[in-house]
Amino acid sequence: MVVRPTEISDILRQQIENYGSRMVVTNVGYVVEVGDGIATVHGLRDVMASELVEFSNGVMGMAFNLEEDSVGVIILGDYTDIEEGDEVKATGRIAQVPVGPALLGRVVNALGEPIDGKGPIQTDRFRPLERIAPGVVARQNVDTALQTGIKAIDSMIPIGRGQRELIIGDRQTGKTAVALDTIINQRDTGVVSIYVAIGQKQSQVAQIVATLEREGAMENTIVVVASAADPAPLQYLAPYAGCAMGEEVMESGGHALVVYDDLSKHAWAYRQVALLQRRPPGREAYPGDVFYLHSRLLERAARLRDDLGGGSLTALPIIETQGNDVSAYIPTNVISITDGQIYLEPDLFYAGVRPAINAGLSVSRVGGDAQIRAMRQVAGRLRLELAQYRSLAAFAQFGSDLDPATKRQIDRGQRLTEVLKQPQYQPMPVEEQVAIIWVATNGYLDEVPVERVRAFEEQYLDYMRTSKADLLQRIVTEKQLSDEMIEELRKSVEEFKRSMWAGAQAG
Ligand SMILES: Nc1ncnc2c1ncn2[C@@H]1O[C@H](COP(=O)(O)OP(=O)(O)OP(=O)(O)O)[C@@H](O)[C@H]1O
Ligand SMILES: [Mg+2]
Repeated sequence: MVVRPTEISDILRQQIENYGSRMVVTNVGYVVEVGDGIATVHGLRDVMASELVEFSNGVMGMAFNLEEDSVGVIILGDYTDIEEGDEVKATGRIAQVPVGPALLGRVVNALGEPIDGKGPIQTDRFRPLERIAPGVVARQNVDTALQTGIKAIDSMIPIGRGQRELIIGDRQTGKTAVALDTIINQRDTGVVSIYVAIGQKQSQVAQIVATLEREGAMENTIVVVASAADPAPLQYLAPYAGCAMGEEVMESGGHALVVYDDLSKHAWAYRQVALLQRRPPGREAYPGDVFYLHSRLLERAARLRDDLGGGSLTALPIIETQGNDVSAYIPTNVISITDGQIYLEPDLFYAGVRPAINAGLSVSRVGGDAQIRAMRQVAGRLRLELAQYRSLAAFAQFGSDLDPATKRQIDRGQRLTEVLKQPQYQPMPVEEQVAIIWVATNGYLDEVPVERVRAFEEQYLDYMRTSKADLLQRIVTEKQLSDEMIEELRKSVEEFKRSMWAGAQAG
């Protein structure tokens, strides 16, 4: 057989040409179907999960569903101009959002683009939306309080930095209010808050931003919005974007608080995206991996080891229940992923107990370590007395037939319940919480008529702030109540009752 050089060079040339064309096939695809913020793309063979792709009209997309011969793409922008047959290019970049201090005080969408009309965000820092959570060895115990400023929470359901605490309840039970007060209470703590609004009305979000501005908390807050009017894919991405912004804070050694309001709507958005991508529906029509949707998000909350900067990311996810049903699919999932839950109840809310926290059903599984000792000293008694009160409260209506001990317990419980009521936007510093809880659990309110308890509290704390500021300050610095401080607390409340309170009641 004779080898002819021209033949070899022909074959080589052919190979090279084919090689070139195969390269093109792997990086470019074309749209075969488009609608509702989703496109199915043929080609794009080597695309990565969450890789950004670019449509021929410049709109970006994100690879979501990787299948044998097609890729499901989430369209990150206006999809009305995208048509069947349009070219799609892979970019080799994973979807990411801008992060860093430049975002503070800003309102952005799920892609980190500003929507507050305050101009572009100047940052050269970006982070991928999705990231593997810190491993066990990178973490340390949660041992510092994240003060919410809400008496019922800081005393009985304390939240620690790096914890995941679920806020759960029916619609209109004050879920958002608890989260907002917590953000407001971070004003002077250096904790950076990130409020992620998912599937809410734009007017509602505007109100929340206005509230944060009015309360002076916006400077330290980033608001990420994917409203009800935004396509489902953006609602699906928003919490991961907010989380990435929080991670930047944590890994720079700072402390971040992320509120996801709410993950029920997030699950709906994900269900919609998955159904559009024709993923097989499972229980309640959610795709089979809906558990992973929230577990991979909430696992990113952490308290890092000191040699890694000691930063933290605390997560407060919110779940809306229907008819108090915490055993529905999504609520049980999220309950199992979090370190406890704050359970809000419509019955309490309508009875005027606000915040409508059911202390019996609420729990924090790691926060106890994070409380300052002074709070632990007074909270144990509070919890116990309230539990006894709850078991007796059903008898309260038979008032006159009760033995004195039972009646005393009920009287005490009613007053403690009053003390735990708290208006919105009035977070209370921990030392004042300790003082009033000490006063209430030591019987100094027992003779105060129930309807006067709130007034008593207000005036007593006023008196403490003006006349006993040093005692309050010592609770903060020494973090525990010594016998001598307890004696001073006793004297202070007796003096207040004798002088100011008795006078006010007489007059
Ligand atoms: N501690 C409180 N004291 C008085 N009013 C409150 C308190 N907490 C909440 N509210 C009021 O109750 C209403 C419902 O509160 P919020 O919007 O926080 O509830 P939600 O559970 O987040 O509702 P949704 O299900 O609509 O998201 C609001 O009008 C709010 O101002
Ligand atoms: Mg709400």
